[in-house]
Amino acid sequence: MKPEIRRAAEILRAGGLVAFPTETVYGLGADASSAEAVARLYATKGRPADHPVIVHFSSKEKAFSWAREVPAAARQLADRFWPGPLTVILKRSKLAKDFVTGGQDSVGLRVPSHRVAHELLEMFQGGIAAPSANRFGLVSPTTAAHVRADLGDDVDLVLEGGPSEVGIESTIVDLSSGAAALLRPGSISRTELEDVLRSKIEEKSLSSPRHSGGLERHYAPRTPARLVAKHDLDKEIEKLKQRVAVLAFSRPDERVDYWLRMPRNPEGYARRLYAALRELDTAGCETILVEAPPEAPAWAAVRDRLQKACAAR
Ligand code: TXA
Ligand code: MG
Repeated sequence: MKPEIRRAAEILRAGGLVAFPTETVYGLGADASSAEAVARLYATKGRPADHPVIVHFSSKEKAFSWAREVPAAARQLADRFWPGPLTVILKRSKLAKDFVTGGQDSVGLRVPSHRVAHELLEMFQGGIAAPSANRFGLVSPTTAAHVRADLGDDVDLVLEGGPSEVGIESTIVDLSSGAAALLRPGSISRTELEDVLRSKIEEKSLSSPRHSGGLERHYAPRTPARLVAKHDLDKEIEKLKQRVAVLAFSRPDERVDYWLRMPRNPEGYARRLYAALRELDTAGCETILVEAPPEAPAWAAVRDRLQKACAAR
């Protein structure tokens, strides 16, 4: 892996784009200090320029150098969860330019735990700006093959790192303005965050346009998808005169053309989710029906992604 990682770091230094594995999803990386590289990153993703991007680092110290204030809460969360699937939003230092913050006075920072991501960040030294390595609005990639299918030749190198362990994007906590706020639920739960901070965390309106994870329809397959309560699934299947693909906990129904059965635990479900949505999307069906997951707090992040995947277009 080392020679490949060295090559990846050289590509980044030259202003190129490198897709790399993280424990959450694959990221599309660019040198976070280079306006040109980040512009190319946004163009490749098809992402609006006023959307901020997360900057990744090999260590807590490097990450915090991009913040001008590091509140105690940020240190506590970093000590507990970094390296790992957590992003914190802090007031930016001079190192975080407008082109990575979407012009805002804050910056998103993360220290990923995936071995390949870590080695790349160590080799590169600086911050790597990296949104999920998919076209804007579509399902995030959890394998190198997903990245190649989405971005093809538009990316200079795709580092291989196996299927992402977590499978959904990092938990995002905003610590840039007083009280901590949860901007995006993830595998690190609200309760785990509150236990470390010993205080309540408010939930920000997820429709805030300043972070793309908050857009109504995001993480979405191309085939129209709908969330259906468990007890309505049978009725819906009966009613639909179309080719239907189903994502459910229960056993396959023979009337249905394509059926994927999902794990009953939220971690297992999250790990499989995006690959499953991609598979259903290419099954040649006109509708995707998704059996709604439980209401319990442990399912918050999965529910969030499913609601977005199923939001009306
Ligand atoms: O797990 C992840 O976080 C993955 C991997 C690659 O690290 N990255 C990821 O990036 O999901 P992206 O760009 O797809 O989503 C980042 C979210 C967006 O909603 C972005 O707008 C928000 O973080 N964000 C970044 N900086 C922010 C800031 N300063 N204020 C508010 N939201 C911010
Ligand atoms: Mg994304």
